[in-house]
Amino acid sequence: PFAWYEKMRKDSPVRWDEKRGAWDAFDYQSVKNVLENKDLFSSNRSRRREGEQASPIELSLISIDPPKHTQMRSLVNKAFTPRVMKDWGPRIERIANQLLDEMQDPSEIDLVKQYSYPLPVMVIAEILGVPIKDQAKFKDWSDWVVAGPTDNSPEAIKRLEENQQRTYYELYVYFKETIAMKRKQPGEDIISVLIDAEMQGTMLSEDEIIGFCILLLVAGNETTTNLISNAYYCFTEFPEIYEEILKDPGGALPLTIEEVLRYRSPVQSMSRVAKEDTVLNGAQIKAGNIVVAWMGSANRDEQQFENAHQFNIRRKPNPHLAFGKGIHFCLGAPLARLEAEIAMAEWIKRYPRFERSSGFSLEPIESTFVYGLKELKLSIL
Ligand code: HEM
Repeated sequence: PFAWYEKMRKDSPVRWDEKRGAWDAFDYQSVKNVLENKDLFSSNRSRRREGEQASPIELSLISIDPPKHTQMRSLVNKAFTPRVMKDWGPRIERIANQLLDEMQDPSEIDLVKQYSYPLPVMVIAEILGVPIKDQAKFKDWSDWVVAGPTDNSPEAIKRLEENQQRTYYELYVYFKETIAMKRKQPGEDIISVLIDAEMQGTMLSEDEIIGFCILLLVAGNETTTNLISNAYYCFTEFPEIYEEILKDPGGALPLTIEEVLRYRSPVQSMSRVAKEDTVLNGAQIKAGNIVVAWMGSANRDEQQFENAHQFNIRRKPNPHLAFGKGIHFCLGAPLARLEAEIAMAEWIKRYPRFERSSGFSLEPIESTFVYGLKELKLSIL
């Protein structure tokens, strides 16, 4: 998409797309303005008609505005404090090593299927305190939650909607039971932290805890998978840069991860709804219009980043917008960064040398919204 973004930034950085009935913002400053300006651009994108039930995601943090958002965010923040994070490092390390142990034929590995895809699902299962025996079910649910239709036919879309509704229902029941269990026997997990907040008389309801758990599946899994896969995509594309990283992985990985986030952003866009008439980089936006902020384009904007099309692991500062900006800034960013860093550090200890196998296509996931690879076959050298 990057050549197209470049053309759009030059020709029409903020434009109306008649076909989709939406505005698109491509330049860094406009994208940043849309994400930051919560008073002009709402996150409540629901197009529900009266009487229709809201999905758990529509009620969750990512779809609400202040003052409700402020309240809820400060509550769920408790589950992502540095103190809580400190405990996760060793647990993520153990999960990464378990997956590495399972790679029986390391002559050819599909990085996506065997590593970057299962890792975040297992981590989130652990963080939510889901028992091991439920992990397979859990993976199946999280696949459905983020699935897209197999094609654009009405039947395929209907089938997907039915499956997703069933999944939401099963997840709802599952988390309700889990919460009941954890009320009796709290553990070292997010659900227990949130139950504790609920018991201390805060505004958090049980349904909101459930909605939040489901949001974590949606927001945290495929995104982190794509961050890890995209990093390896860059390593195989720029072997001389990878050699630099190998000299000092501990020192190089944090900035490398930021540059992968900028250069191949796992989330390419987020949308908002204009609350009032406004002007954005010359475009006259009307109240009620949808505005799509293209972070994937903003992160390649030459006005903001010197040599924006160059993958440069020494870029500093690197004010990319891959995790968003403003009040909805990714809650899971510290976790995603930690997961990516541990995944790569542990991998490098085992398989420092590898190359991209031939005979498979570097096919991107079919989506304008997320950016990643369907598979990435590596040969270990
Ligand atoms: C929000 C990206 C990983 C949980 C966001 C937003 C972006 C984003 C762009 C802002 C949405 C908006 O402005 O409307 C990413 C990327 C990830 C990642 C690129 C991985 C590389 C995670 C993980 C979790 C998570 C691992 C949790 C386990 C959330 C939540 C929000 C959010 C709860 C909503 C925050 C709010 O509305 O206040 N993420 N995310 N994300 N993310 Fe992430």
